Amino acid sequence: MPRFLRTLVLILSCVWLTPITEQYTSSQTQVLQQLRKQLEFPKQLSPWNNTENICYLPSTPLLTVICEGNSVTELKIVGDKLVKPDTFNGYSIWGKTLSPAFSSDSFFTTLSRLPSLKVVILVSLGIWGPLPDKIHRLSQLEVLDLSSNFFYGTIPPKISSMTMLQTLTLDGNFFNETVPDWFDLLSNLTNLSLQHNRLKGPLPLSIGRVHSLIEISLSYNSISGELPNLSGLVSLEVLDIGDNELDSELPHMPKRLVTMLLGKNKLSGEIPGQFGELSQLQHLDLSYNLLQGTPPTSVFALPNISYVNLASNKLAGSLPVSLTCSSQLGFVDISANMLVGRLPSCLSSNSNNKVVKLDGNCLTVDSLHQHEASYCQTHSKKKFSKLKSLVFLVAVIGGVTIIVLLLLFFLRYCRRKQEGTVSEQGLLPKPALDNSASGLSSELLTNASKYCIFVNISSQID
Ligand SMILES: *[C@@H]1O[C@H](CO)[C@@H](O)[C@H](O)[C@H]1NC(C)=O
Ligand SMILES: *[C@@H]1O[C@H](CO)[C@@H](O)[C@H](O)[C@H]1NC(C)=O
Ligand SMILES: *[C@@H]1O[C@H](CO)[C@@H](O)[C@H](O)[C@H]1NC(C)=O
Ligand SMILES: *[C@@H]1O[C@H](CO)[C@@H](O)[C@H](O)[C@H]1NC(C)=O
Ligand SMILES: *[C@@H]1O[C@H](CO)[C@@H](O)[C@H](O)[C@H]1NC(C)=O
Ligand SMILES: *[C@@H]1O[C@H](CO)[C@@H](O)[C@H](O)[C@H]1NC(C)=O
Repeated sequence: MPRFLRTLVLILSCVWLTPITEQYTSSQTQVLQQLRKQLEFPKQLSPWNNTENICYLPSTPLLTVICEGNSVTELKIVGDKLVKPDTFNGYSIWGKTLSPAFSSDSFFTTLSRLPSLKVVILVSLGIWGPLPDKIHRLSQLEVLDLSSNFFYGTIPPKISSMTMLQTLTLDGNFFNETVPDWFDLLSNLTNLSLQHNRLKGPLPLSIGRVHSLIEISLSYNSISGELPNLSGLVSLEVLDIGDNELDSELPHMPKRLVTMLLGKNKLSGEIPGQFGELSQLQHLDLSYNLLQGTPPTSVFALPNISYVNLASNKLAGSLPVSLTCSSQLGFVDISANMLVGRLPSCLSSNSNNKVVKLDGNCLTVDSLHQHEASYCQTHSKKKFSKLKSLVFLVAVIGGVTIIVLLLLFFLRYCRRKQEGTVSEQGLLPKPALDNSASGLSSELLTNASKYCIFVNISSQID
């Protein structure tokens, strides 16, 4: 009897459960079809035609749907709306964005009906509008990549409640508010990438407390102010904040850093000697800043360093001739600085496929592309700025004296003219009719006569 009962229960459950499961799967498929409609049928999704269960389609680099059990856990669609317009004012652009009928808000309402999603990658699909707060309903999300779309406004603060999030990538959009200061609430965040947006304001100090971070990429924005102390980010390997408006001095850097890209900012002060202790560092770009002093020599000798770009700063002094270079070093650019002296021997040989750029300094090599020694002194010595202001003062006094003398001469000329023929004042001769040998000086005098009228009139009014 019990065995029979068990069999009965089993049969019943099969009969009851199967349709429910199928129904559930098909409802997930319906949501996907709804998303496809809202994305205005991109051709990347044509494999979804005539398919009962989208979960079983093969994955491609442009389209991936992965399901666990009966629910979609991963959705990746890479579209072909790649070309970005120079200007975007928040409205649909024909052929570049989705149509004016598209609603970012409804799209994310539909997406949130796939609550098991762990990975959402929706790239180059022309999605436009603000990123709605309701994105946080996808509470299982570990990877969110919405790169190369037309999102603008603020990065929604509700994202801070998505504590499973490991990767947040919003590159190539039009986010135009400040860098959020709540990333420290995302304790599993490893990769943060917000490159090529219009973010402004300072970099919040809280970013230095996201200890899980491996990569911070914020290049090509308008982030200003201070670069905070990130030494506490013990796992950080990539720091890319190039092409912004940072204007502080350089802080100490985390020890595991492999790539440091801080070019094209307004960073000032000296390059910290601590950079010479970053034993994992391979790629260092500090070009196009306002850095001063002599670069720490140990940077060139780091065991893994292969790329050093210090071009277009105000670096001065000389590098020791006996400088040690890492065997990995393949590219060094120290051009457009104020370095003097001889070139270190390990930088002078362009052997081992090493590229060394050094134009625009005052080095004692290749004088064709170097400045005179005075160029590098004038800019670096404070003594000269005193001399410069003295020269400036003399020039100003000289200039004022000449102007006063000219004015006196002019007034005297006018008085003489006033005392002379009066009729000339009414009938000014045209320079074109003038046959005199010195045409230019007569033209000058004619013009001077014009001004004399004003001088005379004003003296008469007085
Ligand atoms: C898929 O369906 C859409 C409309 O439903 C159609 O325009 C498209 O040509 C179809 N693609 C394929 C490959 O069948
Ligand atoms: C952000 O961009 C949108 C769309 O272009 C614009 O309406 C809004 O004023 C901008 N906000 C800021 C703070 O610049
Ligand atoms: C998130 O981090 C917590 C502790 O910081 C950890 O227990 C948890 O497993 C992590 N979650 C994921 C998905 O990595
Ligand atoms: C996170 O950053 C690291 C370091 O740059 C990189 O190797 C890794 O591929 C990134 N992971 C993701 C998911 O982007
Ligand atoms: C930077 O932060 C680290 C660790 O968070 C700390 O030990 C160090 O003293 C700080 N340095 C400065 C200059 O504030
Ligand atoms: C960095 O250099 C050390 C010592 O030379 C070496 O053991 C390590 O493998 C290198 N790391 C990388 C990422 O190349």
